[in-house]
Amino acid sequence: MSPRHSAAGGNPWALPAGSTRPRRLRTTAAMRRLVAEHRVHPAELVLPMFVKEGLAEPVALQSMPGVQQHTLDSLVKAARDAVDAGVGGLMLFGVPEQHDEIGSGATDPDGILNVALRRLRDELGDDTVLMSDLCLDEFTSHGHCGVLDEQGRVDNDATLQRYADMAIAQAEAGAHLVGPSGMMDGQVAVIRRALDEAGHTDVGILAYAVKYASAAYGPFREAVESTLQGDRRTYQQDGANRTEALREVQLDLAEGADLVMVKPALPYLDILRDVREISDVPVAAYQVSGELAMIEAAGAKGWIDRDAMVLETLTAIKRAGAQIILTYYATEVARRLQAS
Ligand code: PBG
Repeated sequence: MSPRHSAAGGNPWALPAGSTRPRRLRTTAAMRRLVAEHRVHPAELVLPMFVKEGLAEPVALQSMPGVQQHTLDSLVKAARDAVDAGVGGLMLFGVPEQHDEIGSGATDPDGILNVALRRLRDELGDDTVLMSDLCLDEFTSHGHCGVLDEQGRVDNDATLQRYADMAIAQAEAGAHLVGPSGMMDGQVAVIRRALDEAGHTDVGILAYAVKYASAAYGPFREAVESTLQGDRRTYQQDGANRTEALREVQLDLAEGADLVMVKPALPYLDILRDVREISDVPVAAYQVSGELAMIEAAGAKGWIDRDAMVLETLTAIKRAGAQIILTYYATEVARRLQAS
């Protein structure tokens, strides 16, 4: 007979009086709520949004269930919904009708991204923090984040000049923060100087300091109708490397980044923790399109509890060290948190 069925009736394996029992703090939902160390708050969520030029009706994105390419009008409405739900900020991406070698639409005040920024700033004023993706890939005919040299390579310093102009165009259109995401060396310093020289000293820089070349950007490329052939491995980071991420962050901090970001989020939580430890500015993480696609696909098959997974991943990103999270789930989660 096993000891637990011993005739004595008592359980010989019972913990002695005075034992530590961590399960006490998990006994009720109220207890678990009281002792939760990390919680996701709507004000720390940023909603990335896509606006497409010349669109008559919003278009649902197949590989990003629940996400749309907006018209200017539907953009304003969705932005208002996000702000009303308590979402902390908006990150805007533009999808132009025309592309060219240097991505002219990015710096044109009448380019879709700048038009949409102006519209949102007019409608929302300072009720939210308006951010814009500062990168050329949506606007170039080749789909790269910079301009190309004669050999077809992405030319770092020629691209910096474009980024300086783009920063000024976005600041003039009403961005509170610009988000350089092209991973060119020196981009933060150049953008800071350009903004200051143009008098935009209050416009901040949310630097995509750490951006890995990731398969998780696939659905985003549908969203912005990317024309890219090949990959971005000469400028985005190699997922095998950890130390390099710290170097990128140190450079961006020295160049004047007001916030730093790590991207993607879930596959790089270790990096996020490292960055948190060396940064003296707020750290953001971007739960990218492929992270959403994986949750949605498995959820649709009934293989995971989709709603629980959304909150679990965001909590993990927060716990790893993100103070701010860019997520396509921002409005939905903000509403769920308000209701709970
Ligand atoms: C570059 C940019 C990308 C994303 C944000 N900014 C795409 C890329 O680097 O290829 C990806 C975001 C996502 O996947 O949700 N403009």
